[in-house]
Amino acid sequence: MNMALAEASPTARPLGLGGRIVTVEAFADVDELALDGTAIVVNTGMRDAWVGEGPSRPLPPLHSAQLTGARVGQADSLVVLRTSEDAGGRAADIVGEPGWHLLGDLLGDGLDVTGGIPFDPATPLWKGPQATLGRVDLAPAHLLRETTDPSPPLPFEVRVNLWFAPAGTDCFIHNAHDFIEVHTQVLGTGRMQKFSRQDHGTRYEDQVMSPGWTTPHPFCATGTDGSFQYPWHQYRADTDCVWLAVEYHRVTEPTTTEESR
Ligand SMILES: [Fe+2]
Repeated sequence: MNMALAEASPTARPLGLGGRIVTVEAFADVDELALDGTAIVVNTGMRDAWVGEGPSRPLPPLHSAQLTGARVGQADSLVVLRTSEDAGGRAADIVGEPGWHLLGDLLGDGLDVTGGIPFDPATPLWKGPQATLGRVDLAPAHLLRETTDPSPPLPFEVRVNLWFAPAGTDCFIHNAHDFIEVHTQVLGTGRMQKFSRQDHGTRYEDQVMSPGWTTPHPFCATGTDGSFQYPWHQYRADTDCVWLAVEYHRVTEPTTTEESR
């Protein structure tokens, strides 16, 4: 990489999501980002980013890669996560970082699931602080591969946060979100699972997740009323795990100032 490119590197916005265990930064309107060392890069924008050279290849929206010393170009919105070499053995320490809470403490008496089994507040599942990346315009049915027509795009707000669960945790089978979500593995090995009912015995799909991997397609479809219809699903931690949630929330008020697109 030449100096001109180095000087043109975009500005990192620290998100403060993972304390001393996971460093998380956001980049917007990236022409070219030269990575120093190893990092997990998530494309949270709505156009392909480009990675590497000889040849450069696309990193599509809602996809990620674990990269070392690589160049990432032409991205609307990137999240870059870094961990220290010994972070895997200290993953559980993240729950002591600022803004982290047991989900059961955040939810109080539990999360009611449309008449299903409620969330057990004692579940060892911790949520970190959430940051807003900015806004993107997307056509839900197009993003969710229900149509080839990318119009009309609608404004969505992008929010990210980290989660932690210790080895062996079933984080809760649920099926309701009013946003589009995907997950990126950061530390440890886990899986996103789908079920026919809110019953572990009805599991029909496992997507195994290692650091740097993002579930390749959101699990939801669009409903006739514009809602998002999810199958029963959960995260399961095979080892102590830290993972990133990326959420796209529909914006209902008029769009104003943009931090990113
Ligand atoms: Fe979910």
